[in-house]
Amino acid sequence: MTLLVDVRDLSIEFATARGAVHALNRVSLEVAKGRIIGIVGESGSGKSTLALALSRLLPANARIAAGDIVFDGVALGTQPERVLAALRGARIATVFQDPMTALNPLFTIGTHLGDVIRRRRPALAAGEVRARAIAMLTRVGIPDAARRLRQHPHEFSGGMRQRILIAMALLAEPDLLVADEPTTALDVTIERQIVDLFRTLKNDFAGSIVFVSHSLGTVAELCDEVVVMYAGTVVEQGPVARVFGRPCHPYTQALIRCETEEPGTGRRLRSIPGEVPDLVTPPPGCPFAPRCAEATPTCRQAPPPWRPQADGGAAACVLA
Ligand SMILES: Nc1ncnc2c1ncn2[C@@H]1O[C@H](COP(=O)(O)OP(=O)(O)OP(=O)(O)O)[C@@H](O)[C@H]1O
Ligand SMILES: [Mg+2]
Repeated sequence: MTLLVDVRDLSIEFATARGAVHALNRVSLEVAKGRIIGIVGESGSGKSTLALALSRLLPANARIAAGDIVFDGVALGTQPERVLAALRGARIATVFQDPMTALNPLFTIGTHLGDVIRRRRPALAAGEVRARAIAMLTRVGIPDAARRLRQHPHEFSGGMRQRILIAMALLAEPDLLVADEPTTALDVTIERQIVDLFRTLKNDFAGSIVFVSHSLGTVAELCDEVVVMYAGTVVEQGPVARVFGRPCHPYTQALIRCETEEPGTGRRLRSIPGEVPDLVTPPPGCPFAPRCAEATPTCRQAPPPWRPQADGGAAACVLA
């Protein structure tokens, strides 16, 4: 197994008027070539910060306080913007939540796709660029692709725009595709279709994928491994079957209960009681301790140990 991405002890802070927001706290994560990693966790747990860090698209008030992201042997933390921009264009592609912001309303879809293709393959003739664009649009499920190439982003529905972004990401032929909640802005039926599209595409996409999602079900369906985040830390990670089948961390267990229906009622359990800690002043011990039914006084004093599990994966919990 060759490593593509090696995130080591990464801490990221956002400067705000209230003080530094500790959005990521010593996060470590490995992405092997060709693997699909899911990232789950409640709102505010740091999933997007991690996704942005992978492509080094962090906002201006962000600072890497510790650690680094090593992409195919290159430590990104110290690279100049010129190198990062080149990586983003060619080796790392991203698909985000809101497809409209990533498309330029002034340009046709043909121009968007053509730009990506030519950046990757500058020597290609115009006819060949067009043929590739049509083939990719068809592959991501956009019918009548030849005509659609002449249309502008506003002529497409939200779901279709997300398909276009996925097409652009794949045409870049990246080594790493980062998708941050690519289905949250869409309604449930369309969401289902986009998840199905990812499922069919993953079979012939040779690169690695980091897939951020609120939905454990989607991650279980699409991913090889899962990383569970809470309050800027990784609380558990491992193969999908292990983590979802035998979760070790009380937080993972609580998340799974939230996605499961209440027996006999057909209703979903709402949410985990309590609130995510304020990341300006994170608690000194386990970040989940204030909400954890099994927490002991030790859990509130010092960060929990990282415990590898005999059956694969690892969890940051004294009980694991
Ligand atoms: N630009 C920013 N400036 C200040 N704080 C920020 C900024 N971006 C994110 N944060 C804070 O960092 C923390 C992590 O946010 P992040 O967006 O990574 O969470 P998330 O897991 O992606 O949540 P969601 O599920 O809602 O998308 C949150 O407390 C958030 O308020
Ligand atoms: Mg997010």
